[in-house]
Amino acid sequence: MNKYSVLLMAIGVISLTACDSGPDSPRGFSLPEGDAVKGEQVLVKHQCLACHTLEGVSVETIEPELQLRVQLGGEATKVTTYAELVTSIINPSHKIAKGYMLDAITDSGMSKMRNYNDVMTVTELVDLVTYLQSKYKVKPYEYTPYGRYY
Ligand code: HEC
Repeated sequence: MNKYSVLLMAIGVISLTACDSGPDSPRGFSLPEGDAVKGEQVLVKHQCLACHTLEGVSVETIEPELQLRVQLGGEATKVTTYAELVTSIINPSHKIAKGYMLDAITDSGMSKMRNYNDVMTVTELVDLVTYLQSKYKVKPYEYTPYGRYY
């Protein structure tokens, strides 16, 4: 299976889990635990800070792509759960961040956030989410353990 089909499956899982309860609930969804140090490198590689700010990371040398960069992390965001964090990255138009409406969306109401689904590997996504999670006050969740199958 190549990385694109894995990513498509991940997207499928998340789009199937869009609501709060029932078969569409995000309950039980989690990526394996990633490497936060590598996750920071993913953030740099994919130029996330062209449109975002992140506490403790300088954006001075990065050419801005939005007039008003959208804050990542902290409390003043729409992301409050792990599933929302992952969804924000792979399906950014699912919910649009509060307070950024005008600058954040296109005329057709879609997020201006770039689509990474064909350029980011699943490993990069896993590491990125592990890194970003520490910046958000998100609800705790269980990592999927890499156990043995009996
Ligand atoms: C071209 C601009 C652009 C780039 C590049 C970009 N984003 Fe975004 N992103 C946005 C905009 C605009 C929003 C707010 C609207 C929305 O929620 O989609 C957003 C929202 C988000 C949110 C939800 C914000 C919150 O906390 O409520 C997350 C998480 C996020 N982006 C992560 C990333 C990551 C990780 C990358 C790099 C892989 C990235 N973004 C690259 C424009 C961008």
